[in-house]
Amino acid sequence: MAISSTERGSWNSKLGFILAAAGSAVGLGNIWGFPTKVATEGGAAYLVIYLLCTFLIGFPVMVAELSIGRKSGKNPVGAFKALSSNKFFPLVGLWGVICGVMILSFYTVIAGWAFGFAFEEIFYYLGWNAAADLLTDTGNGWKNAIIASVFMLGTIKIITGGVSDGIEKATKMMMPLLIGIIVIMIGYVLTQDGAMDGVREYLLPDFSKINARLIFSAMGQAFFSLSLGMGALITYGSYLSKKENIPQAAAFVTLADVGIAFLAGLLIIPAMYVAQAAGIDIFVGDQLASSTNLVFQILPALFHTIGGAVGLILGVVFFLLLSIAALTSTISLLEVPVAFVIDEYEVPRKKAAWGVGLGILVVSIIVAFNTSLIGTFDNIFNNFGLPLGGLLMCIFVGYVWKTDSALSEMELGFAGVKQGLFAKIWPIFIKFICPLVIAYNVYQGILGML
Ligand code: PFF
Repeated sequence: MAISSTERGSWNSKLGFILAAAGSAVGLGNIWGFPTKVATEGGAAYLVIYLLCTFLIGFPVMVAELSIGRKSGKNPVGAFKALSSNKFFPLVGLWGVICGVMILSFYTVIAGWAFGFAFEEIFYYLGWNAAADLLTDTGNGWKNAIIASVFMLGTIKIITGGVSDGIEKATKMMMPLLIGIIVIMIGYVLTQDGAMDGVREYLLPDFSKINARLIFSAMGQAFFSLSLGMGALITYGSYLSKKENIPQAAAFVTLADVGIAFLAGLLIIPAMYVAQAAGIDIFVGDQLASSTNLVFQILPALFHTIGGAVGLILGVVFFLLLSIAALTSTISLLEVPVAFVIDEYEVPRKKAAWGVGLGILVVSIIVAFNTSLIGTFDNIFNNFGLPLGGLLMCIFVGYVWKTDSALSEMELGFAGVKQGLFAKIWPIFIKFICPLVIAYNVYQGILGML
């Protein structure tokens, strides 16, 4: 039995696709991951390397992933099978599916923290301190497991709704609102004592802080934040109409993602110093007291100091928006293994979504009780796994499927692409620059882990 097109689905509109891809990209990576890594890895020096990784490596890889997806119309494993007879590359797709599963397992726990904090703000306002304290306790296994389960069930429900209804709709309102509220909070934070120390830390680079570890972390973060290297954008590209302009869509998604990460940094790094000036222990010596839940200490403290109804409203709306941003990312993380099961094993969408989603939930619950696994999983499947996937995709497009075939696919929605500057530069990145830089980085990462 072939899978019908209604099982696979497609985007309703160009805007729908861009919003969904941007929804996948914008998430905890921007607001939890990026500022945390800036704070731990070297401030503005990290920001500079991150921007270079995003524009010079991430963007070309995103164009490659979308092209593979749209040409093949398949999940990551099926896509490599469809575009060449080489037996190795479907394994790259499978590695992507595995990374997706493992990232989703810890992502839902952190998303659960964000969701819980929306209620914490309400309980705090009402003076229900015991309930508020329970929600701030990121180490409480039962609480983590229950909220992560709610989050996963919501994700599964949306995925069973299919591509356009479920995924497109969820994203439309979120992005402008999220940007608006972050900008308001930046305005507030920058007027507080201590903020300028944070601005300096964030914007004035000390290049002596750059080392192999920082670059490894920035590259992993760039891949994670752009949702690259595990086939999420192969999968989303597979639902994309032939009329769309792939490089333009990729540019939009990259800019939206970087813009929100940059703003989140401009909020959180100064807020850390404001909190410190107000007597909250952020650092032990010159080390952060905690990195995994840094953002979840800083932001509620900020809302509480704003206080009153304004603090309450900003806090609740912010954490709800962050939860929605996380949801549009968990949707794309789950869509990858689900599309794989639908395409390769001809399982109907509903069954695939529930089977795969509940399987991943079991791993999430283990993480909920052992939150130290988050750092380990983040290192293996994000910092190492995603760039490795991206490297192998570049090799595939550069040397197996060939950049010229990818450009022919792009030409369907971008007339004249082959004659322009893009067709001269992009293949050089995909064949030489991206693979060399990523390979060196992955190698350094392996040395660092040993
Ligand atoms: N890009 C998402 C974020 O920044 O939170 C995380 C993510 C989603 C990573 C989808 C990978 C992916 F395939």
